[in-house]
Amino acid sequence: MTARILEVEGVHAGYGEIRVLHGVSLAIDGGSITALVGSNGAGKTTLLKVLAGLIPPLQGSVFYRHRDITDEGAARRVAKGIALVPEGRLVFPNFSVEENLLVGAFTPRVRAERAALLEQMYDRYPLLRERRRQMAGTLSGGQQQLLAIARGLMSRPSVLLLDEPSLGLAPQAVRDLFRMIAAIREAGVTVMLVEQNVRATLEIADAAFVLESGRIALSGAAADLAADDRVQRSYLGV
Ligand SMILES: Nc1ncnc2c1ncn2[C@@H]1O[C@H](COP(=O)(O)OP(=O)(O)OP(=O)(O)O)[C@@H](O)[C@H]1O
Ligand SMILES: [Mg+2]
Repeated sequence: MTARILEVEGVHAGYGEIRVLHGVSLAIDGGSITALVGSNGAGKTTLLKVLAGLIPPLQGSVFYRHRDITDEGAARRVAKGIALVPEGRLVFPNFSVEENLLVGAFTPRVRAERAALLEQMYDRYPLLRERRRQMAGTLSGGQQQLLAIARGLMSRPSVLLLDEPSLGLAPQAVRDLFRMIAAIREAGVTVMLVEQNVRATLEIADAAFVLESGRIALSGAAADLAADDRVQRSYLGV
C-alpha cells in the first residue's frame, strides 16, 4: 500500500528558455490519491507532463516502480501503466463515445483486450453504455469529463494523472467527479490529482503537495495540509 510507485527527484524543467520547475522532488504511494495544488502558473501541468513523459526534464530523474524511466517517452510510459488525462476534456467531439473509448486502448499491452475493457467501462459507467453511439461533442461537460477519464482507464493504467478535471463543471457534476475519482482509487489505481478545487481535493486525497513557483512549498498527509494555516489562507479562503 505504501510502496512508492512514481517518484521525481530534483527535477528541473521548462519550455525553451523558460524554467518552470526548479528542483522538484516528490513521491507517490501506490494505491493513494495524491493531490498537487498550487496557484496558476506554479508548474502543476508542467510536472504532470514530466511524469507522463511529454517533457524531458533538464535535470533530475523520474522513477516508476523504482526504475529510472527519465529517458522513456510518453508512449512507453502509457504502455507501462502511466496515463495522463490532460486539462480540458479533450474528447474527439465528432467521434462516438465508443470510438473515443477505443482510442484509449492503443498500446499493444491492452489492444487485444479492448472489447473486455470496453465492457468493463460500460459496467462501471452505465451512462457511457447508454450513450455509446452518441457523438462525444453532444455530451454535457460532466459527461465529457467522465468519458475523458474512462478513456484514460482504457489503457489499464496503474497510475492515472488528472489535470484539473473539475474545471468548468457544474456543482453536481463536480460532486459526481470526486466520487468517481475516489472509486478509481478503490479499484486499485493510483491517482495524482491536480485541482483548483482544493477543499474537495484534500478531502478525498491521502497525501498532498503544494507547488509554489516551481518548488514544493509544503507536503504531508492531506488532512494535515487541510488544517495548515498557510494552506487555509492561500488555497481555502479561510
Ligand atoms: N508550452 C509552453 N511554452 C512556454 N511556456 C509555457 C508553456 N506552458 C506553460 N508555460 C509557462 O510555464 C509556467 C507554468 O505553467 P503550468 O501550465 O505548468 O502551470 P500550472 O500550475 O498548471 O497553472 P494553471 O493553474 O494555470 O494550470 C507558466 O508561467 C506558463 O506560462
Ligand atoms: Mg495547469
